[in-house]
Amino acid sequence: MRRGVVLMAVVGAVCLSAMADEPKGKDKMAEPAVQKMKFGKSADGKAVELYVLTNGKGMTAKVMTYGATLTELHVPDKAGKTADVLLGYDDLKGFESKGNPYFGCVVGRYANRIAKGKFALDGKDYKLATNNGANHLHGGLKGFDKVVWAHKGSKAAGGSASVSFQYASADGEEGYPGKLTATVTYVLTAKNELKLDYEATTDKATPVNLTNHAYFNLDGQGTGDILDHKLTIFASKYTPADASFIPTGKLAPVKGTAFDFTKSKAIGVRIGELKGEPEKGNPGGYDVNYVVNGGGKKKLVPAARVEGPKSGRVMEMFTTEPGVQFYTGNFLDGTVKGKGGAVYNKHAGFCLEAQHFPDSPNQKSFPSAILKPGETYRQTTVYSFGVK
Ligand code: GLA
Repeated sequence: MRRGVVLMAVVGAVCLSAMADEPKGKDKMAEPAVQKMKFGKSADGKAVELYVLTNGKGMTAKVMTYGATLTELHVPDKAGKTADVLLGYDDLKGFESKGNPYFGCVVGRYANRIAKGKFALDGKDYKLATNNGANHLHGGLKGFDKVVWAHKGSKAAGGSASVSFQYASADGEEGYPGKLTATVTYVLTAKNELKLDYEATTDKATPVNLTNHAYFNLDGQGTGDILDHKLTIFASKYTPADASFIPTGKLAPVKGTAFDFTKSKAIGVRIGELKGEPEKGNPGGYDVNYVVNGGGKKKLVPAARVEGPKSGRVMEMFTTEPGVQFYTGNFLDGTVKGKGGAVYNKHAGFCLEAQHFPDSPNQKSFPSAILKPGETYRQTTVYSFGVK
C-alpha cells in the first residue's frame, strides 16, 4: 500500500514536471509513467496487481502479476487512434478460466512441447506432467502462466517505463529438476517498443524455454480474423513436425511451400493448404516453429514484420532466440468470451512466440535449452510498433 502511494507520488511528480517543462499546446503527459492497481484475488486467495506502463508517446501496456501476463497493449493507428491489439479478458476471473488459451502470459518452465513429457539429462530420466495428449505443453498442468509472480520493481526513467516480476519454481515442480528462479521485465520505450527481458538461474541442470504467448490483432482485438494481415518472417527454414506438433528433428526450407513468408504476404493466402489432421486434434492453420535467420546468437535479430490492413499498424519483432512459433489461433472456436464481450473465432489473433525449438531436450541436433547451475539464462524479444 505504502509503496503504491510512493509510486503514485512519483508518477504525479513526473507528470507535473512534464507539464511545467512543456511548451504550451504540446502533449502535457509526454513522460513515461508506471501506475500500480489492484486486480483482484486469484482463486487460491493471492492478491494480484496490475501495472500500467505509459510512455507519453501514445502507447500503454498493462501487465499483471498473475502469469506475468500482458493484459492490454494500446497502440496508435495511422490516424493516431489508439486501440488494444491484444486478445484477452476484462478481468482476472477470465484469465484464470479453464478455456484461457494462454492469452498474453509468460510461458514456462518450457514453452511449447516436450514429446511424451520425457527427457534424459546427465544420465537420468525425467518424467513431466502431460497435458496435451501424450505430450507436455507450455510447462504442464500449472505452468508459469498460472501462478502469481512477485513484483520486483518498476521504473519510469530515461524515456522508458518498466516493471519486473519474479517467480521461483520449486525443484520437482511439474517434474522438472532444480529450483529455477525466473525474472521477466517488460519495458515500454519512447520509441514505441515493448521489450521483454527474461533471466533465469537454477541449482540443478534443467530445460528452460521462456516466452510470451500474446495473441495480436493489429486492427484491434475483437475486429475479426487476421487472415488479411501481411506477414514477413525472416526465416528460410522451419522445423517440420508430426500431427501432434513434435518436430521430426529436420530443418526444411520454406521455399515453395505455404510456410514461405520470406516476402510479405497475407497470412490467409495459403493457409487453406494446411488442413491439419482434425481427427488427431490438429485443426489446421499455422502452428509451426521457424528457424530465425541468424537467430540464437545472443544478439537481437529481426524475426518478423506484420501489417494490419485496416489500421496501418505495423509490428516488427526482434529476438535473441533461435526460433519463433507462428500460431494463427487455430484452436479458437468462439467459445472464449473476451474483452468487452468479444467472441474470438478461429484466426481472431496470431502469436509470434520467441523460443528454443519445440522438444529440444530430446533433439540432439537442436540448439540446447539446458541451463546449468552457475549460468544465467537470458532471452530478449522486442515488439516494435509504428504505422504504414
Ligand atoms: C501454442 C501451440 C499451439 C497451441 C497454443 C495454445 O502456440 O503451438 O499448438 O497449443 O499454444 O492454444
